[in-house]
Amino acid sequence: MIVEDFILRLKPYEGGKPIEELKRELGLDSEIIKLASNENPLGASRKAVEAIRKSAENVYLYPDGNSYYLKKKMSEKLGVEEDNIIFGNGSDELLELIYRTFATKKEDEILYCYPTFIEYKLIGMAFNKKIKELPLKNYRYDIDALIENINENTRIIFLNTPNNPTGTIIKRNDIESVIEKVNSSCLVVIDEAYYEYAIKEDDYEELLDLYKNNNVIILRTFSKAYGLAGLRIGYGIAQSEIIGFLNRTKPPFNVNLLAQEAAIAALDDSEHINKSVELNRQGKEFLYYEFNKMGIDYVKTYSNFILFDVKKDANYVYEELLKKGVIVRSMAGYGYKTSLRVTIGTLKENEIFINRLKEVLGV
Ligand SMILES: Cc1ncc(COP(=O)(O)O)c(C=O)c1O
Repeated sequence: MIVEDFILRLKPYEGGKPIEELKRELGLDSEIIKLASNENPLGASRKAVEAIRKSAENVYLYPDGNSYYLKKKMSEKLGVEEDNIIFGNGSDELLELIYRTFATKKEDEILYCYPTFIEYKLIGMAFNKKIKELPLKNYRYDIDALIENINENTRIIFLNTPNNPTGTIIKRNDIESVIEKVNSSCLVVIDEAYYEYAIKEDDYEELLDLYKNNNVIILRTFSKAYGLAGLRIGYGIAQSEIIGFLNRTKPPFNVNLLAQEAAIAALDDSEHINKSVELNRQGKEFLYYEFNKMGIDYVKTYSNFILFDVKKDANYVYEELLKKGVIVRSMAGYGYKTSLRVTIGTLKENEIFINRLKEVLGV
C-alpha cells in the first residue's frame, strides 16, 4: 500500500496514560490516580448512568441520527432553535467535520495560537492543511498577532477559551474583534469545552449569543463537567446555514444511542454539575495553596486543570510521578519544557498528587 507523505508524517494521538495500562506496569494492586485527561473526578451523573441502564436493552437499534429528543431538550436549555444545534461523537468529531466541510481548498489556511488543544493541529495535518500557529503571549491567546495574520485564505480560526493546557481565557471583546476582521468564507470556532467551570468565575463572559454571527460556531461537550467522556458526545451551536452544511458531511448515526439518552438525563441533573464545579473550586484553592507553599509557579485557571512549572525537566518529573502511581501530563512536547498539567481531582486525589510531587521534587 502507498500513502502520501503527509499521512506518513502523522503520529497517532497520545492521550493520558490509561489507569489499566499503568496498573499492569506497576503491579495490579497499586493505587493509581489519573489526573491527565481533564475528566470529572466525581464521575457521571447518577441520572445519566440510570438512563444508560434503562436504554441498554435498546442497543440493537440504530440511534436517532438527528438526536431528536436531545436536540429538543438542548434547544430549550440554551434558548436557541433546534436547527442551530448539531451533536457529534465528542466535540472532536465536530472539529473533524468542520475541517471536512469548510477547509476543502488547497490554499485554505488554519489559524490559532499555540499551545492549545492539540487536535486542531492533528486534524489539520490529517487533512494536509496549511496551519499557522502563533505563540501564546504570557500563556494567553495573542489576539493582536492573530488578527494581523488573518488573510484572504484564512478559512478556520480556532479560539479555545478556557484554553487547554493553560486554563486562560479570551475576552469577549477580543473574540468580537476577530469575528469583525474575518471575511465571510472564514469560520471562527469558539471551543468552550470547559464552559461549565469557566462560567462560575466572576469575570468569565457569556459567549453563547455570538452564534448569531454568520460565521461562528461554538463547541461544547459532555466530556468534562458532565462526566460523560467515555460516551463521546459534544455539540455545536451556530447559524442554521452552518449547521446545515455540517449535517451534509456528518456520518448518519454519529452519536450513539446510550450517549443520547445519558445526555438527556444529564441535562436534568444540574445538581451534579454544581457539585462538580464546587469540588473543582475547592481542589483549585487547595492546589494553589500547596503550590504557593512549595514555591511552584502556576497559571491561574478558569478550568479543571492547572499548568504548573517545576523548573525541572517535565518529562523526568512525569516519569517519576508515574512510578508512584500518579498520571499527569508533561507539557514538554508543547514547548513548556519544565511544566506539567494536572487535572483537578477529588480532595483525596489532590492530596496524594501533592504528596507524591513533594517526594519527587524533594521539597
Ligand atoms: C479544548 C478542548 N476541546 C475539545 C476537546 C474534546 O472533547 P470531546 O471529548 O468532546 O471530544 C477537549 C478534550 O480534552 C478539549 O480540551
